[in-house]
Amino acid sequence: MLGAALLCSAMGPAAQLNAAAPDSVYIFTYCPTDNGGRAGLQMAWSQDGKKWNQFKGYSWVKSDYGEWGGQKQMHSPHIIMLDDGTFAATWQLNEKANQFAVTTTPDLIHWMPQDYPYAKRSTICLEPKASYKDGKYYVTFHDERGRYFSAHSNDFRTFTDDVLTSDVPEAVYETVVLDNQPVQGQIFTLPYNRFQELQKFYDDRMAKGAKNAESSADNPTRFSGIDHVNATVNIDLSKGKPITDKLIGIFFEDINYAADGGLYGELLQNRDFEYDQSERGHDKSWNNSKSWSAGDGATLAILTEDPIHPNNPHYGRLTSNSGKASLTNEGFDGISLKKGGKYDFSLFCRLAPGATAPATLNVELIGENGAVLDSKPITVDSKDWQQLSCVLTTKKACKDGQLRITAAESSALAVDVDMVSLFPQDTFKGRKNGLRKDLAQVLVDMNPRFMRFPGGCVAHGNGIDNIYDWKGSIGPLESRKPLFNLWGYHQTRGLGYYEYFLFCEDADMEPVPVVAAAVPCQNSSRGGHGQMDGLDMADLDAYIQDIYDLIEYANGDPATNEWAAKRAEAGHPEPFNLKYIGIGNEDMFSKIYEDRYLAIIDKVRQKYPEVTIIGTVGPFYEGSDYERGWELAKAHDIAMVDEHYYNPPAWYIYNQDFYDNYDRNASKVYLGEYAAHDRNRKNTIETALCAAMHIANLERNGDIVMMSSYAPLLAKNDHTQWRPDMIYFTNNDIDLSADYWAQHMCGNSAGDVYHNTSVSSDQDARQGLRERLAASTVTDSKTGKTYIKLVNLTGIPTTFNLDIPELKGTTKAKTISLSGEWDQTDVKPVTGSIKLSAKTAVNVAPYTFMVIEK
Ligand code: AHR
Repeated sequence: MLGAALLCSAMGPAAQLNAAAPDSVYIFTYCPTDNGGRAGLQMAWSQDGKKWNQFKGYSWVKSDYGEWGGQKQMHSPHIIMLDDGTFAATWQLNEKANQFAVTTTPDLIHWMPQDYPYAKRSTICLEPKASYKDGKYYVTFHDERGRYFSAHSNDFRTFTDDVLTSDVPEAVYETVVLDNQPVQGQIFTLPYNRFQELQKFYDDRMAKGAKNAESSADNPTRFSGIDHVNATVNIDLSKGKPITDKLIGIFFEDINYAADGGLYGELLQNRDFEYDQSERGHDKSWNNSKSWSAGDGATLAILTEDPIHPNNPHYGRLTSNSGKASLTNEGFDGISLKKGGKYDFSLFCRLAPGATAPATLNVELIGENGAVLDSKPITVDSKDWQQLSCVLTTKKACKDGQLRITAAESSALAVDVDMVSLFPQDTFKGRKNGLRKDLAQVLVDMNPRFMRFPGGCVAHGNGIDNIYDWKGSIGPLESRKPLFNLWGYHQTRGLGYYEYFLFCEDADMEPVPVVAAAVPCQNSSRGGHGQMDGLDMADLDAYIQDIYDLIEYANGDPATNEWAAKRAEAGHPEPFNLKYIGIGNEDMFSKIYEDRYLAIIDKVRQKYPEVTIIGTVGPFYEGSDYERGWELAKAHDIAMVDEHYYNPPAWYIYNQDFYDNYDRNASKVYLGEYAAHDRNRKNTIETALCAAMHIANLERNGDIVMMSSYAPLLAKNDHTQWRPDMIYFTNNDIDLSADYWAQHMCGNSAGDVYHNTSVSSDQDARQGLRERLAASTVTDSKTGKTYIKLVNLTGIPTTFNLDIPELKGTTKAKTISLSGEWDQTDVKPVTGSIKLSAKTAVNVAPYTFMVIEK
């Protein structure tokens, strides 16, 4: 992208400013030094070099390096302007990294994704400066001892090893007074027309920012004087555009205790004794004994010698000489026991060295006030690991129970225990090792057409060692590899790939696994700095083989493929019919990422052309990674890309046409993560209606937007790392948010044919009103049902006058409406009916999403 020879780097002394031609403007680039430079690169402009005007409140580029909180720093940014008018920038990352940041921009507006080359000789890269000479870019930096090093590059992405240099870069910074404070930075001269581009871009950003910040709270003022809106909705049933039949799906990630303690049915916490202090440094109770307590004179020791399986190295040794002993598990915030419930208890155990006789233990369900709700004996009689089980029943419900194992005999006790499990028999579809029934059911009730798993960030992990390895999540439970969860807790992976596939089959959802593109999350804090530590290229083939193996595990023939045989061993000889696979999760397009991402995609699609590859385009709906991601998707003909954005409610209001102008011949879109985030991060009628409005727009673009999933899906109260979520729950209750109901209504009113639907109103002249109305019409060709979606986000009673010339006669149609105050959270849809004919006036209450089903 960058041109040939360097013309000039920065303006010289201030005296030169006076000589500026009237057709040019001075641009001052700087990064505020407070807060580690996290505010990113700022700019100001001046016509005379004396009076400066700031582009306030906007960062032209921010550092993407490292984890949130500690990193994302920018120190001493240095920019050079090349003779083709493009720019190259470098900056120092922090006070310790032997890396420096590099990026380029054609116009100071659009920035390329960043790279962070390593220095080999210097142990740190302080104050890097860029230069361009004889067709090569140079970056020169110094270490703490004042020694200078230089590395060069042909593309300003990949650099040679650094060498010591005696060429000390010239001083480039000048001081300008901004807000009465002296600020150091660089001054450039830009032709006036280029300055105008900057100004226009900035003005647009500010205007969009102001619109996006609009809240429904201000609607009474915004629309004062309007007490009723008449909208006209023209629906053309004579024609239909085929659209996706998989628009609404679910995004499952183990965030907010969505899996262990959530959807996964296991009732005991830390059943494998593998919780590890490193998973949650600040919480001293988070260790191998978490949730367990030994009582009645017994001791619990955590040991690793001769475990059941190397993937599950820790186990507990319960000893007592007092003739009494107990070991209690508190579950996840207690254990919810249902009246008349049956529970499968199992554990691995053995007599510890020194034990002379078989040990009989009582397994007890403990209810309120210590009441024993059921008790069954088991006898440990082997010095080798043995698996024992029993079934416990409860006549009484208990919201906050415990599981206790006690010594049944008054003799000395020494037993080893591991994989201690308590499972309700009443799981979703009665599956062993299955899913919590009520939670699974509310998901299925949404009629989702696919499920994405295992994330989100969980898929690419915190550091290379934490990349989600699907193979560690299958097979006998005791052999699965527990994994640190980057949201700050532990994954047993009892809910693993087999269970994900099975749930998809049970709920008639397409499975959409997402695997990392051999790089961890760009925000990684462990084992290096995100995508600067991608998997070694020498290991890439083995990594790609793992992806082939995954496809074989899902689709292969057990007779000929070892991974397909494992599926059969698990009880599923038939294939799972995997049709999609995601490669990468909202990654930053560093060179390290691009090399691995493209190599993986090329190989996987060559070998499995029948599987649709879903690539990525970064974490936002715009910006460096979005632009580069789309550029690569088009250049490499990637079938589909995964878009993510969490935007304020008004963004959805003002971007109803977001997909209307997308290239119809380019990659298809999977909107893999989105949600409307209001200032309080709550699910309200406003956020839900924004999602419904967006879905109406996705339906219109259902020829290119193939799938969408609100994110995140599940959140256990008191264990949330992210808000808002679609469904909140405790052990005993489920709280379905307004956003859940919007998705539920859309999932149950999906079609595969879109009919042109246009909306106008008698108040279109009033700014922002028309944008708060939406409508869409689809038909499900299998059932013949037609669904009309109407959204009224105005806060004003609105009559939608439906004009449907093709409709003959009058028919009774069902309505489903989600309605409330704009900030109301406790809402539920209500059903009703209307008479529908070619011309029908439908009264839609303020802040309402209505579906008409015919
Ligand atoms: O949905 C929560 C998180 O948001 C996902 O893990 C990640 O992909 C995104 O940043």
